[in-house]
Amino acid sequence: MLKELEIYLENLLKELGYEEKVTILASSKKELGWYQLNICMALAKKYHENPVLVANKIVEKLDYRFTSVNVAGPGFINFKLDEKYLLDYLNSGLTNFKVFVPNITKKKVVIDFGGANAAKALHVGHMRSANIGEALRRLGVLVGYDMISDVHLGDLGRQAGMLLSEIKKRGEYLEYFDPNFKGEYRSVDYTPTELGKMYASANIAASNDEERMEEVREITAEIDKGNKTYLNLWKQLVAISSISIKEVYDELNCHFDLFEGELDAFKDIPAMLKKVNPYLYESNGAMVMDVKEESDTKEMPPLLVIKKDGATIYATRDLATIYSREERFNPDEIWYVVDNRQSLYFEQVFRASYIANLTDAKLYHFGFGTINGTDGKPYKTRDGGVMQLSTLIELISNLIEEKMKPDIIDDRLNIKNKLTIATLKYADLMSYRATDYIFDPVKFSSFDGKTGPYILYTVVRLKSILNKSVKKDYKILSINSIEELDIYLKITELESVLERSIRDKSLNYITDFLFELASLFNKFYNTYHILSETDETKKESFLGLITIVYNCIHNLLNVLAIDEVDRM
Ligand code: ARG
Repeated sequence: MLKELEIYLENLLKELGYEEKVTILASSKKELGWYQLNICMALAKKYHENPVLVANKIVEKLDYRFTSVNVAGPGFINFKLDEKYLLDYLNSGLTNFKVFVPNITKKKVVIDFGGANAAKALHVGHMRSANIGEALRRLGVLVGYDMISDVHLGDLGRQAGMLLSEIKKRGEYLEYFDPNFKGEYRSVDYTPTELGKMYASANIAASNDEERMEEVREITAEIDKGNKTYLNLWKQLVAISSISIKEVYDELNCHFDLFEGELDAFKDIPAMLKKVNPYLYESNGAMVMDVKEESDTKEMPPLLVIKKDGATIYATRDLATIYSREERFNPDEIWYVVDNRQSLYFEQVFRASYIANLTDAKLYHFGFGTINGTDGKPYKTRDGGVMQLSTLIELISNLIEEKMKPDIIDDRLNIKNKLTIATLKYADLMSYRATDYIFDPVKFSSFDGKTGPYILYTVVRLKSILNKSVKKDYKILSINSIEELDIYLKITELESVLERSIRDKSLNYITDFLFELASLFNKFYNTYHILSETDETKKESFLGLITIVYNCIHNLLNVLAIDEVDRM
């Protein structure tokens, strides 16, 4: 609605001979007007006129939708809205969320997020990629983009060498390590948990024993070069470990259209190299590509594509994946939701892709900041180790358990899990995507304040009232108080909140909005008795208010991939 008014105002300005982008601002002093325009000062400067005169010229032309119009100070235009116009808008969005969704040019996007590494535990950084990536995927779907998500599993690299060397060390499945073996290879039988333990012990052994480390390197290089027997064994381990990785992503409500990985890019390497080859040159035995541009102010080293020993690396696989995504999906854009620390790497890979013409898609790295502990350093466990996601989930889960009502018995575990994930997601999406933030478990799991549980607590209230009321299709007939008005004016901002979110690929605008709306609602709830209201028109409007607030919160939580609860 505000967007519609902004376009109307821009056209009106044109009629008056002015050219200017218009933004309607919510005003803090509601008595003077609900909204404010501050364009007149800029126009006055641009067209050498008096700002108050410019304001008066505009005010004279405004149509019936603008009410209580007044010009203040050096040329601010304050106004309210025609009540019927506002009510029609709200009632059209009572149960239809599309009313609040901005109209944006459609596009096809491949979104690359998740990025867990096979056979290794997910750490907190992987959680950020999952939380931000899934929310961006859902936001894209909401605004009508064709979204294709892919996890790009890290299923090649050092961990492959580690695990194979551990199997060899244990003397298990030795046929895979015997070059002269002619018989039938057995299929391996480990559980994901066993693999995790095996990786951990190989890691310790190799870091204390140079010979063992050398073996790990050799096996890794063999796999990267495409050794068939090793790959056969390794792929089975990847499949086992993918089961537990998928469980974690399910817990985090992530949806992947493709569950592909670096291994899947292997087959596309020859075709990719065909395009890249003309730009490769030898450097210390390795094959590299220059990606420097004249305008560069920062260091931009050449991109390593093939190692000295002929092995491929992370970058080779990313280039091949870009080639394959172009061939298969012809996307308009590819989004990478990966840690900020990989930004130079992605810059190199993107430039190489454009130079070798691997894709016409626009490539974007939407990087995220680090999760820090209260000491301002990357979040660690008590003993100083990397914080694994499972440890963090357990920590939050215990805090939630303490706060939940003791009389919730059936379904308690399920509700606790939902509150835990809500805590993590809301906290993780609350700061601007690219900034680091400090993880405060106690603050973030509180049922009060700017937290996931607080929003869910508000949902519990809303749903309980709606469940207790008889009729279901309410209408907002009138606005009777400042508390109601505040809520409705907040809702008029929703369209621009979503627009900013998709523009910046950051969810903080949505978490802010949710908190503001929930707080305003709770203020209203504490002031009025909704179900016992005797004035029927008022009561109907109250229930209309509950319906629209629930509709907004419900759909926004859905974008953030946070599940609702009905008790807590
Ligand atoms: N597996 C990588 C890591 O843990 C992230 C993968 C990101 N995606 C990509 N296409 N490179 O750092």
